[in-house]
Amino acid sequence: MLKIPTVALPSGRVMPIFGVGTWRMGESARHRADEVKAVRAAIDRGITLIDTAEMYGDGEAENIVAEAMGTGQNSRRDNLFVVSKVLPGNASRRGTIAACERSLKRLNTDRIDLYLLHWRGGPALGETIAAFAELKAAGKILDWGVSNFDIDDMRELASLDTANECATNQVLYNLTRRGIEFDLMPYCAKRGIPIMAYSPLEQARMLGDAVLKAVGQRHGATPAQVALAWLLRQKGIVSIPKATRLDHLHDNIAALDLKLSAEDLKTLDARFPSPKRATPLDML
Ligand SMILES: NC(=O)c1ccc[n+]([C@@H]2O[C@H](COP(=O)([O-])OP(=O)(O)OC[C@H]3O[C@@H](n4cnc5c(N)ncnc54)[C@H](OP(=O)(O)O)[C@@H]3O)[C@@H](O)[C@H]2O)c1
Repeated sequence: MLKIPTVALPSGRVMPIFGVGTWRMGESARHRADEVKAVRAAIDRGITLIDTAEMYGDGEAENIVAEAMGTGQNSRRDNLFVVSKVLPGNASRRGTIAACERSLKRLNTDRIDLYLLHWRGGPALGETIAAFAELKAAGKILDWGVSNFDIDDMRELASLDTANECATNQVLYNLTRRGIEFDLMPYCAKRGIPIMAYSPLEQARMLGDAVLKAVGQRHGATPAQVALAWLLRQKGIVSIPKATRLDHLHDNIAALDLKLSAEDLKTLDARFPSPKRATPLDML
């Protein structure tokens, strides 16, 4: 069974540093069975972190996660760390609580391990955070966090009462999107807030890159494994690649065993330079 390292959350709980994403799942009935199979295969391989959202497939991705987790005696729920997200348009105090109840129902569970505000917008941030506190007190969510928050959003969050409970900022981060290294990443690191790197493969668009391929060839590894290993070696960074194809899933899991050398890192830095100045947060 896989042994995936964890990162500590401000609550004292821990989150695995590697999991699977589910965006684009639940969008077509034709692919549904394969999607359930992929999430179940991830669980069978020992992946415990699953990232989803009410937005994905209009709730259908959460249904897929529930099906993959199984029910009754066969349920794998207790071993898993499930992340879901409320849409900003639903994120008023009452709206957040209602959205969470709907997600719990679709996920067929009594609690969400980590519940995120998907992006800024909609009601005042204080309303959402107050709802998160209420949900947490009721045991319906075990931790809360944010997503797509740039440094100014994080500063605004810091001015609110329970901001020190924020358990993650889930943002776009991969070799081709290194902007957060300039300011957002150090800001979060200083406060012990792990970053969840979404689209860690740039939705597969980066995988044809010649340098990624060349670095992979040094290790007999694929470009996807190099891109993931580059993230996995960083403290406080959690990666959630999405794969419906089982060969992709197994490829990605093997990245946990790939150790990049100092020379590899130098080659990757030359091809994908770290930022020299502050840039606005990218979002997909
Ligand atoms: N908070 C947010 O706003 C936000 C935004 C975007 C994403 N996310 C989360 O982050 C997760 C991951 O991001 P993402 O889905 O956007 O993109 P991603 O994980 O970077 O890439 C997924 C794409 O790469 C392909 N792929 C996966 N592994 C591969 C491999 N080893 N070789 C070749 N191709 C491979 C997948 O194909 P197949 O599926 O066909 O296998 C899929 O098309 C999402 O699913 C979602 O849970 C959050």
